[in-house]
Amino acid sequence: MMIGKELNDAINAQVGAEFGASLQYVTIATHFDGEGLKKLAALFYKQAEEEREHAMKFIKYVVDTGGEVRIPAVAAPKATFTSAEEAVKLSLDWELEVTAQINKLYDIARAKNDYAGQNFLNWFVEEQVEEVNSMDNLLKVVRRVGEKNIVMMEAYLAHGN
Ligand code: FEO
Repeated sequence: MMIGKELNDAINAQVGAEFGASLQYVTIATHFDGEGLKKLAALFYKQAEEEREHAMKFIKYVVDTGGEVRIPAVAAPKATFTSAEEAVKLSLDWELEVTAQINKLYDIARAKNDYAGQNFLNWFVEEQVEEVNSMDNLLKVVRRVGEKNIVMMEAYLAHGN
């Protein structure tokens, strides 16, 4: 089965976005690591791994459907943060943007009556609900705790939230 050119190109761009997210989350993790906030760091290192897996999932789909993998240049992530809130807010905004990007991919698959494409993208539609929800929740808690008491996030995360 051949993937359509429009979806192939859009997925290649998405691969760049997912790798970009992975780099951004690594950078956020290292920021927290440097602050001694190991649980927050671990959360973002794990998130970075997940983004890499998302990129690989898209790549595998392109290969499996006879398309062409063209990984675009990935912009450097934002490197410094003045607060935990800033880093987590950036992550939530990112996840909202990715959700819009996935919806656009879905629009292409639907317009082309590409049922395999829609079926493949369903996983990402569901995943984004979870990703946005968990980042939104993290931001709420970070705001509630406040920068002064941010070390309390470690206890919160240690209890499996
Ligand atoms: Fe790959 Fe967090 O979206």
